[in-house]
Amino acid sequence: MTGPLDRWRAHAEDAVLLDGFHALKHALRFGAEVPVAVTTDREAALALAEELAVDVRDTLAGLLTEVSGPAYAALVPRPHPTGVAALAVRPSRAAGLAALARTPRTAPVVVLDNPRNLGNAGAVIRLAAGFGATGVVTTGTLDPWHPAVVRGGAGLHFATTVEHLDVGDLPAGPLFALDPEGEDIRGTRLPDDAVLAFGSERTGLSAELRARADHLLRLPMRPQVSSYNLATSVAMTLYHWSASGAPGAARPLRRPSAPGR
Ligand SMILES: C[S@@+](CC[C@H](N)C(=O)[O-])C[C@H]1O[C@@H](n2cnc3c(N)ncnc32)[C@H](O)[C@@H]1O
Repeated sequence: MTGPLDRWRAHAEDAVLLDGFHALKHALRFGAEVPVAVTTDREAALALAEELAVDVRDTLAGLLTEVSGPAYAALVPRPHPTGVAALAVRPSRAAGLAALARTPRTAPVVVLDNPRNLGNAGAVIRLAAGFGATGVVTTGTLDPWHPAVVRGGAGLHFATTVEHLDVGDLPAGPLFALDPEGEDIRGTRLPDDAVLAFGSERTGLSAELRARADHLLRLPMRPQVSSYNLATSVAMTLYHWSASGAPGAARPLRRPSAPGR
């Protein structure tokens, strides 16, 4: 029988690091396959589950193995304050592409056109999960499954679809590109099959993405402010989509199946 450290080493190469209690909790809630999970204090981790995530408490009890502080520190680059870490199996690209292509689409796809900041990409995945977006697609060189993006996403990569694509391969659907020079977003209703594209932190939307856009939209902003942060722009746009269903009928967001934070 192999111990947790052997299991960790066996999966470390291909798996996704879930860094901390909350990332593990979220990944489990959204069906991640977790072959190994360790903690420096099992009792404390299960007490946290009792308090914050009773819906996955039993699953955690079955998964978590206590390891020494030095053994834990050797597995993770930056020990998390909760002393919990796990590895999850990364969903297949084929499954991701199928989810992005499925029609009719009931919620938008968010496109980050050549994002540069790993934390921003993680924050956007967290937003997409919260709003029930179909997925987040990145173009360019950033890997949306980079450990720092997964850390920023708090384990919520498993609650949506996350893929990298070329601009020419973006999912079908009307493409709304967000840019301070566009039409005021407040005059536009965003459909459920929208593809919502956002530019790079440094250079904005690429020429290739602009050429594919059906609409260019701006978020309200005072003169003399040049632009908003990328993740906050996605937040405002997803909120606009969620609030702009049929008059008086804001789109209902799915609630977690069990109580928990
Ligand atoms: C930090 S901004 C990019 C700033 C960049 N220097 C530029 O030249 O556009 C990142 C992205 O957020 C979105 N964004 C920021 N402020 C916006 C606004 N007021 N209206 C629409 N989109 C905005 C755009 O998609 C933009 O490309």
